[in-house]
Amino acid sequence: MKAKTLEQALADDIEEVLLNSEDIKCRVAELGRQISEDYKGKDLVLVGILRGAFVFLADLIREMSISAETDFIAISSYGSSSTTSGVVRILKDLDEDIEGRHVLIIEDILDTGLTLNYLLKNLSSRRPESLEICSFIVKEGKQSVKINLKYLGYTVPNRFVVGYGLDYAQRYRNLPFIGTLKPHVYEEDET
Ligand code: PRP
Repeated sequence: MKAKTLEQALADDIEEVLLNSEDIKCRVAELGRQISEDYKGKDLVLVGILRGAFVFLADLIREMSISAETDFIAISSYGSSSTTSGVVRILKDLDEDIEGRHVLIIEDILDTGLTLNYLLKNLSSRRPESLEICSFIVKEGKQSVKINLKYLGYTVPNRFVVGYGLDYAQRYRNLPFIGTLKPHVYEEDET
């Protein structure tokens, strides 16, 4: 697959920009301030879910005024590339022990909720002092399990979204905005 420039990708593949880079920056700064207030004086570990959360986590931690450790967990869900089955395999586990610590899971998107449902069970069995979630995006009306978010960036319509860490076939993660994908992109891949 040949790499496109960001301008080409925007012109060819993006149907609509839902959140531009200024919207995103402002909201991430607000979330960083709120998290800093809430966890002041606490032993906080941010757990990024690879791969999609790396962009959001990198911006968020630089908007925080308290120190926090960062760790990552990489998971793979069984099922097709566009749907989550809820059966999850850990590809890379946390490096740190989270027992007795305040853990904040950092996600790029909550879609069906099955990934976070699994992770909550898995991480809570390690006996953290607290376990909460910060997701940048929630897809409206898609959750098949109820997930309580302590922090949320934005709710977006139930459409295929890419950018700001979100991919389609591992592309578009570096777009500085969140937008919807033109159907021809995934229809071409289906043929
Ligand atoms: C995406 C996203 C979440 C998950 C949410 O990950 O980063 O982890 O899907 O979906 P769910 O709520 O339906 O479980 P994906 O499996 O696409 O991998 P990625 O993070 O590498 O993009």
